[in-house]
Amino acid sequence: MEITALEGLGIGLTGIALTGSGSAVPDQVVDNEALAQVVETSDEWIASRTGIRQRRILPPTATLADLAAQAGDRALQAAGLAAIDLDLIVLATSTADDLFGTAAQVQAKLGASRAVAFDLTAACSGFVFALATAAQFVRTGVYQNVLIIGADALSRWVDWSDRRTCILFGDGAGAVVMQQNDTDQLLGFEMRSDGQLNSHLNLVHQGEPRSVVPDVTCGQGNYTPVTMNGQEVYRFAVTRVPEVVEKALFRAGLTAEAVDWLVLHQANQRILDAAATRLKIPGEKVLSNLGQYGNTSAASIPLVLDEAIRQGRVKSGDILAMAGFGAGLSWGGAIVRWGR
Ligand code: UT7
Repeated sequence: MEITALEGLGIGLTGIALTGSGSAVPDQVVDNEALAQVVETSDEWIASRTGIRQRRILPPTATLADLAAQAGDRALQAAGLAAIDLDLIVLATSTADDLFGTAAQVQAKLGASRAVAFDLTAACSGFVFALATAAQFVRTGVYQNVLIIGADALSRWVDWSDRRTCILFGDGAGAVVMQQNDTDQLLGFEMRSDGQLNSHLNLVHQGEPRSVVPDVTCGQGNYTPVTMNGQEVYRFAVTRVPEVVEKALFRAGLTAEAVDWLVLHQANQRILDAAATRLKIPGEKVLSNLGQYGNTSAASIPLVLDEAIRQGRVKSGDILAMAGFGAGLSWGGAIVRWGR
């Protein structure tokens, strides 16, 4: 979109560009065969139903902030930007080290002392929501340089004895740098929520009544492991994801034919294939690294994108159709031209 068009709408003075990417994963690998030793499953079942072959697991000695900072540092290097020049860090995560927020720890680790930093929680839609949120600050001229990180360690919250969920998730982090630009390379986006469907996928706090003073009780306890109605979430994903991509394309004034790369949240290869088919986007334009990392929640989009950029597949000028979806339930799409 031309800046003049933005000014005409009265919503901003400048555009945004994504200028660098980075990612990080823990060293520990758990493959399907190893999981089949602890729950009743098989490599054949997992691979054929999901496309997943292995996943990475964050050790208890490491923090999510470590992983997020590593990914962020690599994105800054790729963009040629110093941490001190960052104005804002948005960390999309549902598995914070600290419920008060983890982004400030990432800020400290990076030495981005000028930047304000906050967490944004929207499960597997978190990265797309963070991208759209950050763009508002840059478009309005408030901030110039933003680091957007998606990082999750669902290994902390998965019931490792539940074969319906434990085979799906892995840990990781991915990041992009967003900078002020003459033209706006966020061509369109659309974000949606439906709390009526919340019970299909959640990680809820379960409080036991605890007396505070006579006649006043609070609920204290821990979070219960991830529960998911897989079939319902699958149905939701294969209808809502193509829909939201089409909506974002419409806002961009583009059709699916213009898309160079479909960069979807990596939940299940069957969902990627079904969405691509509905959008009439050929399989060779669909990025996937599910086999290596499984579902890394908010990290999955920037993780697969960074891999494709470093492999030289995604190039400056390419049109990316991104979409995240998951708990909330929430879903969102963004159409971006990579680079300045
Ligand atoms: O990131 C958030 C978004 N999440 C998603 O998008 C996940 C969406 N859902 C899915 O990807 C799929 O629903 C799953 C991969 C989770 C499950 O695949 P499915 O084809 O929907 O399987 P199902 O739940 O219908 O289960 C089929 C059978 C059942 O056995 P019965 O009842 O037919 O005898 C399950 O008990 O497979 C059984 N099963 C397993 N068998 C071996 C479930 N999990 C496993 C397992 N290994 N790990």
